Amino acid sequence: MITKQKGTYDVYGVDAKKREYVNDVIKGVCEKYNYNYIETPVFEATELFHRSVGDTSDMVSKETYDFKDRGDRSITLRPEGTASIARWFLENKLYGNMTEPVKVFYNEKMYRYERPQSGRNREFTQFGVEFIGSDDVMADIDVISLAYQTYCLLGLEPVIKINSLGDKESRDNYREALINYLRPHIDELCDDCKQRLEKNPLRVLDCKVDSGSEILKNAPKIIDYLNQESLDRYNKIKDYLDLLEINYEEDSRLVRGLDYYDHIVFEIYVNIESIGKMALGGGGRYNGLIKLLGDIDMPAVGFAMGYDRTLLAMEEAGVKIPINENIDVYVMYVSDTEKETASYLTQNLRLNGFVTETDYLNKGLKGEFKSADRLNAKYLIILNDKDLEDNKVNVKDNMTKEEEKVNINDLVDYLDMHM
Ligand code: HAM
Repeated sequence: MITKQKGTYDVYGVDAKKREYVNDVIKGVCEKYNYNYIETPVFEATELFHRSVGDTSDMVSKETYDFKDRGDRSITLRPEGTASIARWFLENKLYGNMTEPVKVFYNEKMYRYERPQSGRNREFTQFGVEFIGSDDVMADIDVISLAYQTYCLLGLEPVIKINSLGDKESRDNYREALINYLRPHIDELCDDCKQRLEKNPLRVLDCKVDSGSEILKNAPKIIDYLNQESLDRYNKIKDYLDLLEINYEEDSRLVRGLDYYDHIVFEIYVNIESIGKMALGGGGRYNGLIKLLGDIDMPAVGFAMGYDRTLLAMEEAGVKIPINENIDVYVMYVSDTEKETASYLTQNLRLNGFVTETDYLNKGLKGEFKSADRLNAKYLIILNDKDLEDNKVNVKDNMTKEEEKVNINDLVDYLDMHM
């Protein structure tokens, strides 16, 4: 038997309905914050991600699905959305004559060749927003507020962990200080970090292997290396977060795994008794990315979250997701003439807004009653030829078991009134 690939999953039934619910909440929030929906291709030129996310990031060096297509082009299944949005923005020359910032959201499948574990898969759905065209902290706050409120509306109690990577000058100064500090300890670092120290020393700070070590605990903090402008900007963001009553905490070791960030970086986590702290999403400002890809100076900020961990957190936190498992009407018949009427009525009721089902297996009345109960039908319409001669149907309230003969022409009004 052919089975699904490791790290992928089929979504069906209650699980699909839970995702639909999360989707609806996200759509509602994005509408209020005025972000427009966007879809980009599942695959892009490999170079897009290598240049944007960075060759030294784990995501690009170890996790992308790369392949050659039949035209010998190097293709990558998108591992994240930000690079694709930057490509879309440049390709459509949206920077010309920009009167308003571009605010978009996406809700798409992403692909990373990771070791599958709880809430981490190789194919996963990610919701993200990108805000392009403003360098003002109001834009950072727009994105952080949207991320925070989304989790609140999903019934969680999120905390935003923040840090600043500053501008290039601040980062260069910090990088030098960090290398000078870490070099004498190089033998005590894990193998990956030995390489990171040369290529991307900031990444040493969020190494999972070395995270508890004294060396990292005592490492210089980037906040002490921010120049005045970067520090002012960071402090302003904290003021706004206080003003908007967004629950946040500072983490000087938060650097995020992707190369394109500067200034604010953040992660959203929840703390649930049964599982402890769990990161659900993250983002930050990336003022250099569009310049890197298209030589256009264009400030931007964004955030993304995975569905898998969010749903896991909601489950562990005991969030009750409202799922409608009832149908409105089940139409029952036996004879061929009743069947024709059933077909007509079923369509008519659906077009009038009722969730309606009927029998597709010629089960007979007994089987149809059972089906109606299995589907939690609120009303049963029991057809029989004798009633139909008088243009009537038998309507049964499946809760109270009360029955009434109703004229077919009045059926929609009758159900509207009783439902
Ligand atoms: P990221 O931190 O790589 O950032 O991913 C964001 C979120 O996607 C993670 O916090 C996690 O919830 C989810 N995610 C990542 N990998 C997996 C996986 N293998 N399985 C399930 N969920 C996963 C980005 O992708 C940036 N593009 C965010 C951003 C947008 N920054 C600026 N704009």
